[in-house]
Amino acid sequence: MATIKRIGVLTGGGDCPGLNAVIRAVSKTAMNEFKLEVFGVEDGFLGLIQNRMHLLHWNDVSNILTQGGTILGTSNRANPQRFAIDRGGKTEWVNVTDRVLDHVRGSELDALVCIGGDGTMTGAANLVESGINCIGVPKTIDNDIEGCERTFGFDTAVHTAAECFDKIHTTAMSHHRVMVVEVMGRNAGWLALHTGVASGADIILIPEIPYDLEIIADLLRRRSRNGKRFSIICVSEGAKPKGGDVVVARRVETSPDPVRLGGIAIKLVADIEEKTKLDVRATVLGHIQRGGPPTPADRVLATQFGYHALEILMAGAQGQLVVQQGGRLAEVPIQSVAGKQRKVAPDDPLVRTARAVGTCFGD
Ligand code: F6P
Repeated sequence: MATIKRIGVLTGGGDCPGLNAVIRAVSKTAMNEFKLEVFGVEDGFLGLIQNRMHLLHWNDVSNILTQGGTILGTSNRANPQRFAIDRGGKTEWVNVTDRVLDHVRGSELDALVCIGGDGTMTGAANLVESGINCIGVPKTIDNDIEGCERTFGFDTAVHTAAECFDKIHTTAMSHHRVMVVEVMGRNAGWLALHTGVASGADIILIPEIPYDLEIIADLLRRRSRNGKRFSIICVSEGAKPKGGDVVVARRVETSPDPVRLGGIAIKLVADIEEKTKLDVRATVLGHIQRGGPPTPADRVLATQFGYHALEILMAGAQGQLVVQQGGRLAEVPIQSVAGKQRKVAPDDPLVRTARAVGTCFGD
């Protein structure tokens, strides 16, 4: 087993509440428990590609537990295996893994702790194959990492979104309106499902259960006839009508996953108004869901994940992702989750619970 004296830590992909809590837990455990040196890699894999990393001291990682964002910076465009280089306005895709290997060896890093989502794990899996030991820590407000029932950041995002729904409720009631509120989550409906249930949304639309506009319109008309003069719809950015497609907000061509979803709430407003003649408004919560301090539950989970990453690394783990399964910490091979996404099963217990209390999923 290789002796570990110095490790690197990086945060990749979209930012998320709790990243700093993991950086702190990883670094403090490494310095305090295992007497290791820790290098902070700047801006995720981009820092590895461009050789931007620096030694972290205890004070650098103190007082950051409750801070949102990441002190190391992040990037959701840098995949060493497929890196976009601008050649006079034309994008060329290059495999720069060798450059990363040189930089990791040059800085004498014995292992990397990669904190990120599925894109980061795909990049980490590639580095593991190339001989760099990576330990993954699962982050994302989408909660969609394969093999992991809870990622840090999710609880905070649900909390933030639910607070916004409470505020939307007031206007919905006062103006007797239908309010359509769009939450993030990409192609997984976890954020919409939990936020919708937590907010008592009348209708929850998720990517895994394509909706029928007629069913939504019928319900809204019925509610209105029965004296319920307002309705709240929680829609996931990845929701789509039966036989239809998602609404794409933009394409980021230099990103390994170029599609950015968004705008389904605006489409629903037009469709519902046309069918029902009710007064309908859209709110798109957007990046507010990724910001701010992590909730106490996320601070605890992030700290546990960070400690467990170091614990398994020092026990000899190679290429493993820290996960939570059945409420307990565990690990799975990074390779087994790369390129995969954990979705909501249409008969998930929370979907069944929501249906039991009268929530409509548009199907
Ligand atoms: O994966 C996190 C996430 O916030 C998704 O929910 C969303 O689809 C995406 O990132 C937005 O990405 P960007 O910040 O690049 O617009």
